[in-house]
Amino acid sequence: MMNLVLLGPPGAGKGTQAARIVEKYAIPHISTGDIFRKNIKEGTELGKKAQEYMNKGELVPDSLVIEIALDRLNEDDCKVGFLLDGFPRTVEQAEALDAYLADKGQQVDKVLDMDVKKEILMERLTGRRVCKDCGATYNVVGMPPKKEGVCDVCGGELYQRADDTAETVANRIEVYNSQTKPLIDYYEKAGNIVHMDGSIGYEELFAEIVKLLGE
Ligand code: AP5
Ligand code: MG
Repeated sequence: MMNLVLLGPPGAGKGTQAARIVEKYAIPHISTGDIFRKNIKEGTELGKKAQEYMNKGELVPDSLVIEIALDRLNEDDCKVGFLLDGFPRTVEQAEALDAYLADKGQQVDKVLDMDVKKEILMERLTGRRVCKDCGATYNVVGMPPKKEGVCDVCGGELYQRADDTAETVANRIEVYNSQTKPLIDYYEKAGNIVHMDGSIGYEELFAEIVKLLGE
């Protein structure tokens, strides 16, 4: 059983590492951003509400996010543990998560904090391409697909996220610094945070994570 949280600014590589971690450790990958994007695609009420905030690079209100994340954690597949990617993002969300887990006699086992400098984040996000069918993530600079615009994994079409424009990316980084960074202190006090250099190569970083979590 392994309850993990990935913490880090937009573009730190949370999704990229998450895909590898959940494959190796056979735990579910829970990305609140992915849940919202799925709802936007399907045109649900939740999607409509979330989109207003996401397109501006603002956080979706805690009252919406917490319920959705905890409902997801309540599903059966999370009995073996989970990997949270992009949640919690505020102290209020972290407190709600802790209270939920404490109720079950559990806790967050490890928080992997991935640190990357702003200039690198801008470059990574404006170059990101995502598969519209399976969600696999590429980068036109560092991690291009074999064939331009086509997913290596499923052959799906690659697209650019609506919030990956230079202007919105800059705001997302600001929002991270003001609203999410305080979580570093929060987990520092809890004693379960590990700091990692997210600017190294993604294979190298994954090897570091495996060293930390064990084979
Ligand atoms: P979300 O989808 O969570 O986005 P984010 O946190 O901004 O993070 P990203 O997905 O942009 O980056 P990532 O760290 O996953 O990087 P990736 O691996 O793709 O949230 C989106 C929005 O939803 C939020 O703005 C908010 O509005 C809302 N939301 C979601 N959760 C919420 C919550 N809890 N509360 C409130 N609102 C919420 O990598 C990025 C690029 O870099 C890729 O191109 C990749 O190929 C490349 N790359 C990755 N690793 C490396 C490496 N080591 N070296 C070189 N390139 C690399
Ligand atoms: Mg992501």
